[in-house]
Amino acid sequence: MKICCPHCGKEYTIKREALRSSPDTVSIPCPNCQKKILLHPLAAGSGGPDRTSGHSMQTKGTAPVTGEALKQKIFKTLKDLPPMPQVVQKARKVLSDPKSSFSDLAKVIESDQGIVTRVLKMANSPYYGLSGSVSSVKHASIVLGTKTLMELLDLACSSEILGQTLEGYDLAAGDLWMHSLAVANGSQLIARRVNPSLELDAFSAGLIHDVGKIILDPYIMERKAEFQSFARERRDTFLSAEKGILGFDHAELASEVCERWQIPRHIVTAIRYHHDPEPTEKDTLSFIVHLADAAAIMSGIGAGIDGMLYAIHKDAMSLLRLKEDDLFDIMGQIVCYVEKTTQQV
Ligand SMILES: [Fe+2]
Ligand SMILES: [Fe+2]
Repeated sequence: MKICCPHCGKEYTIKREALRSSPDTVSIPCPNCQKKILLHPLAAGSGGPDRTSGHSMQTKGTAPVTGEALKQKIFKTLKDLPPMPQVVQKARKVLSDPKSSFSDLAKVIESDQGIVTRVLKMANSPYYGLSGSVSSVKHASIVLGTKTLMELLDLACSSEILGQTLEGYDLAAGDLWMHSLAVANGSQLIARRVNPSLELDAFSAGLIHDVGKIILDPYIMERKAEFQSFARERRDTFLSAEKGILGFDHAELASEVCERWQIPRHIVTAIRYHHDPEPTEKDTLSFIVHLADAAAIMSGIGAGIDGMLYAIHKDAMSLLRLKEDDLFDIMGQIVCYVEKTTQQV
């Protein structure tokens, strides 16, 4: 029978007979990580239900793994999730070089034809105001400027991945995409007031802050009933349910995935702490994405079940030097941005 180590996620095949010969729980060392795997004899199929708990082993078809073992399992299957394309990293490099030109950035983007089509589609959307008039990336970079072109590149690279249906989170196709657009724009608008040099990074961080949901969704579905009863009984946030049931939440997972995608560290930090920036000790970018997330949810461009009971950090407004009226203004702009960016030309 197959077993899976709950510590490192490694799978093994062991003989059922070895387990049945003992009436008690058996402890075996994992050949990979050497930690103890506790194995109950009933799990070998002696007629009763599978019984595994805490740090005991998981048999195939029994309770799903959690914690570190689940993370390792997820990382193994990450090949199914397209990473952020190389073109974004290359473009970031070009942009950080003061000697680079419009043509250099355009050349990098043009190396991926699929991306070019999407960049031009976005550039011609009503929000960017070039309806139908931009036909090449170089033209777009001259008319819009390199900063906006980079923004379009971010959008083009994430629209497909963020557009999916996420049943576990009660998100229809396109819902997460609209929420991500709202948080990207909100983050950018807040950064423009607080620290304009953070504008581009704020946009990128806001756009992919919830990418962890795409990865976690099938595991939430697997334990949907458990999540539903957690929400019913505890009246706590969905994030707490993720932590309680899976052992980690979508923000933690997203930050580890983004690290593997070699996304810059300060963006990874903002993604990691977007629900609660307290541990960052007043990191501006983290507070920006956190407040933009809240603004998007308050504007009605929420993120499904995750938007319920959203707690805004008590110092977020003062730290970002925003008044209530500023936030309302930002919320209005966010709604307009999402509407216009998603309109087809
Ligand atoms: Fe989130
Ligand atoms: Fe969010």
